[in-house]
Amino acid sequence: MITKNIIDTAKAMVADNKGLLAMDESYSTCNKRFAKLGIPETAEFRRAYREMIVTTSGLNNSISGLILFDETIRQQLEDGTPFIEALTDNGIIPGIKVDGGTVAMAGHPGEKITEGLDNLRDRLTEYAKMGLRFAKWRAVITIGKGIPTQACIEANAHALARYAALCQEAGIVPIVEPEVLMDGDHTMERCFEVTEQVLHTVFNQLYKQGVLLEGMILKPNMIVPGLACSKQESVDEVADATIKCLLRTVPDAVPGIAFLSGGQSSELASARLNAMNVRFKSELPWQVSFSFGRAIQQPALDIWLGKETNVPEARKALYHQAVCNHAARKGEYNNETKRK
Ligand code: 13P
Repeated sequence: MITKNIIDTAKAMVADNKGLLAMDESYSTCNKRFAKLGIPETAEFRRAYREMIVTTSGLNNSISGLILFDETIRQQLEDGTPFIEALTDNGIIPGIKVDGGTVAMAGHPGEKITEGLDNLRDRLTEYAKMGLRFAKWRAVITIGKGIPTQACIEANAHALARYAALCQEAGIVPIVEPEVLMDGDHTMERCFEVTEQVLHTVFNQLYKQGVLLEGMILKPNMIVPGLACSKQESVDEVADATIKCLLRTVPDAVPGIAFLSGGQSSELASARLNAMNVRFKSELPWQVSFSFGRAIQQPALDIWLGKETNVPEARKALYHQAVCNHAARKGEYNNETKRK
């Protein structure tokens, strides 16, 4: 029964050309983004911001699932409706970030390991009871001089696989997110090489831990040059390299790949996702979708600024980004969609 449920949920998360919206920033990440715009860093402002997102009308036409943070699932909309209920009633699957963030990896300068396995089984049991149907765990791999090391890749892949196995035991679909960061001046080829190694290691660990591939979603980075690299490849070149890398590493049994945006602009993230679907959609074994945080939220946050009077315009911007990515999944994102 649990197996059928997680397979159905994983399929639903990437069905109908819809995608996921990541709204699961930890206290510190959310506060950092608020601070940059002068928005007060309080629980009430975080709640109000997230209420604005969740109550954007029509969001469910483009968004299949929304990733929440532990603070938010214990909060309510202004009218008293819990966030989880508001989403479920609106046909959006609620999920939750369960990792505890990254810390410096012992003995490995410049590298990080994700924490959060302790007590995870108990937390997942509680989350499942609350109605959360999928989870997310993000591992971070940094490209630099002499890094990533095999030790860092293996430790992070092992943690991702243990997390994924625990999720499935609780009837929750794991989003497996090994993010190779865009920071740095490395080339696109280097990003390809590292991502290929990371994904091979992750799927090897998922196999060893007995994770059911049909009941998970992969959330990878696209294959892109470092932000500070002097050579920036075209949208089509990024699409080609990304699909080539994923075809080499991701088994057909995985129902969907939902990209993170990782600091790309909203437009580039949509254009690259669109190019992948235009060029390859009909020949791919998995759905190629999105699980964007900043690429969907940032324009709305820049407008909102913590002010009630800005809510209607901010909602419009959020809705627009969601629609653009829905179009990109169909290979229909173009100048006209962009302007609407
Ligand atoms: P970005 O799309 O902003 O990278 O966020 C996605 C995410 O959930 C990172 O864990």
